[in-house]
Amino acid sequence: MRQDSASRLSCLCCTQMLDRRDACPAPGSQRPDQFQVKTTLLQVQDLKVHFPVRRTLFGRAKEFVRAVDGVSFALQTGETLGLVGESGCGKTTLGRAIIRLIELTEGTVSLEGEDISRMSDARLRPQRRKFQMIFQDPYGSLDPRMTVEQIIGEPIDIHQLAKNSADRRKRVCQLLNDVGLDSAHAQRYPHEFSGGQRQRIGIARALAVEPKLIVCDEPVSALDVSVQAQIINLLKDLQRSHALAYLFIAHDLAVIEHISDRIMVMYLGRVVETGDAKTVCRSPKHPYTQALISAVPVVDPATKRARLLLPGEPPSPLNPPAGCPFHPRCPLVEPRCRTETPPLRELASGHQVACHVAQP
Ligand SMILES: Nc1ncnc2c1ncn2[C@@H]1O[C@H](COP(=O)(O)OP(=O)(O)O)[C@@H](O)[C@H]1O
Ligand SMILES: [Mg+2]
Repeated sequence: MRQDSASRLSCLCCTQMLDRRDACPAPGSQRPDQFQVKTTLLQVQDLKVHFPVRRTLFGRAKEFVRAVDGVSFALQTGETLGLVGESGCGKTTLGRAIIRLIELTEGTVSLEGEDISRMSDARLRPQRRKFQMIFQDPYGSLDPRMTVEQIIGEPIDIHQLAKNSADRRKRVCQLLNDVGLDSAHAQRYPHEFSGGQRQRIGIARALAVEPKLIVCDEPVSALDVSVQAQIINLLKDLQRSHALAYLFIAHDLAVIEHISDRIMVMYLGRVVETGDAKTVCRSPKHPYTQALISAVPVVDPATKRARLLLPGEPPSPLNPPAGCPFHPRCPLVEPRCRTETPPLRELASGHQVACHVAQP
């Protein structure tokens, strides 16, 4: 294998760096011509979303919920970045702000090098094809009055992707097959499907515009455990066949570890730890990540893991603590944690932690 990085490509199926002529050694791997050069697809810089609450008599905002408070990261083509954290830490707000469903308070979001954070609706409309979202609730996210064909066909119409109605129908049937549903069911309504099947319809709808990035907001949290695995495997297969990048949001670290290449742990609107999925899960450095991981059930009863219980509730993002936002619950708290906010610092290559105390 050559060392010249320009001549080396990353395999879509396993993200290994390989020479262009080499076949991927992974089972069921892609052909060399399906390799793609990894480039930065999404760049998020110091993103903040502050919701105004409590206004003065004259309508001026008096207080803000700091739902996302200065998040920066990059996502490569074909990569899965897992976003994990307790409920209310700002995961959904971050995902929605990235695809411009919520206005940003500060910061920038660039897709393929183009800043989309302040784009007008007219300029943003053609860009919307590049990014889609899969929602948490498979019951609430599909219009109950529309047939499956109408639901999946709608984005095809909006972006004028079909040449005629026969082409539109063909695309809808192909998408249904891609997500493991029978194309004969295209005229049915969402209530005729199970939760897992509805989530498949939501995935087909997201795929209809041939996006490059999909924000998956807790796509399996509302499903039975047995169905969760099927949907996750489907998302992995679709990532390979459609060269997709995922921002995969979940509060369950076991799910996140399984699907992600890299993980980002959020606490109170900020990133507290980020790195390669295996490194973060096997060797977490931030005390918050350590507590999250200690709560993941272990399959093998011989493996004993002490559960780290965090005292108290997460503080309100309306009035976050000074210094490190985690310090009121941290077992390692030091005096400086109460006054100085720790920046993300690199403990090992690609492994960053926002903690004064954490050691490599
Ligand atoms: N539209 C809104 N107005 C005010 N506060 C909001 C709004 N949306 C979300 N929040 C608050 O922002 C914080 C982050 O919410 P959210 O992004 O939904 O968290 P998560 O997805 O991690 O559970 C929460 O405290 C929530 O109450
Ligand atoms: Mg959420």
